[in-house]
Amino acid sequence: MVDHREPLLTADEVGILVSSAATAPSMHNTQPWRFEVSGRTVDVILDEERSLPAEDRAGRMILIGLGAATFNLRVAAAMLGHETTFATYPDPDRPEIVARVFLGGRQSPAPPLGALYGELRRRHTYRGPMLAIDVSARVLSLISSSARAEGADLCWLDRNSSRDLVRILREADELDLHDEDRLIERGRWIGGDRSEDGVPEHALGPLPARPAAFRNLSAGFDDQSRSAGVFEVEPRIAVLCTGEDRGSEWLRAGMALQHALLTATSYGLAASFLNQVLEYVDLRSRVRDLVDRTVRPQMVIRIGYPAMTSGTTPRRPWQQTLADWK
Ligand SMILES: Cc1cc2nc3c(=O)[nH]c(=O)nc-3n(C[C@H](O)[C@H](O)[C@H](O)COP(=O)(O)O)c2cc1C
Repeated sequence: MVDHREPLLTADEVGILVSSAATAPSMHNTQPWRFEVSGRTVDVILDEERSLPAEDRAGRMILIGLGAATFNLRVAAAMLGHETTFATYPDPDRPEIVARVFLGGRQSPAPPLGALYGELRRRHTYRGPMLAIDVSARVLSLISSSARAEGADLCWLDRNSSRDLVRILREADELDLHDEDRLIERGRWIGGDRSEDGVPEHALGPLPARPAAFRNLSAGFDDQSRSAGVFEVEPRIAVLCTGEDRGSEWLRAGMALQHALLTATSYGLAASFLNQVLEYVDLRSRVRDLVDRTVRPQMVIRIGYPAMTSGTTPRRPWQQTLADWK
């Protein structure tokens, strides 16, 4: 219920909410979202035209990105002083509305999630080498708690499991190279100069001089001009897991991912994703064996202190994603 004594959102506030949502990670930076604002509710809408049918056949990755955008909306609303609640799939007649965020009345002090607002534009996917500095158990535990607050778990891999994962990564890389539909899809979104969406070449990072825990998003294309990097020998890897595999859980995974990433950013950490192992049913099942047979792996995340600065990805002007405001 909107409290009519509270003013509705101003144009500046709508701009802050929608542009903040759009800083979320999305697979290949497709930005598969549109937003509708009505009173003090914001609907997050799946944009089917920005789906990845070859690499994301189940539609899991797209919902993880939309979950991350939903979390960002909550962070921006909190910074503006609003407590939020949300519902997933709120309208059975419009299944493309995947989440609805309700903004409550203004509070002072602002709700705690607002403290993460400053991290929204500092977080970037970092595909370069990490420094050989341990991340403290306290910081790892804070990152895990952030994911858990949204209903998903981060399972940290030990040294042996990380090595096993790197072997599975190599198998996925090999499969990726020989799948023409995937290559065509990646060609549409990856590499070159990009001003609104996709992953430009400068954000791809250096190529590892030796095999490493890495995903070369431009594998199969000409990458002669990429520099080489010396990657960490013992990567710190976590698998983000949920209890079930369905739309609402994938959205939760996205919220958990983003909460964990923003917390990591606030401690000077950076992350990249090794999701090629989850894009093949058999390989995903082997990742599940590495963590726990009772859970569903949703993201594979490499975390550490970045050794370099990284190139960033562009976003569309937020006005293009605001489908309706009344
Ligand atoms: C569900 C999902 C899967 C992703 N998978 C990968 C991946 O396997 N490899 C990778 O390098 N980046 C991956 N990314 C990161 C995106 O490429 C990145 O979020 C996007 O390009 C926007 O850039 P930014 O995160 O720096 O804002 C993934 C992101 C999401 C949300």
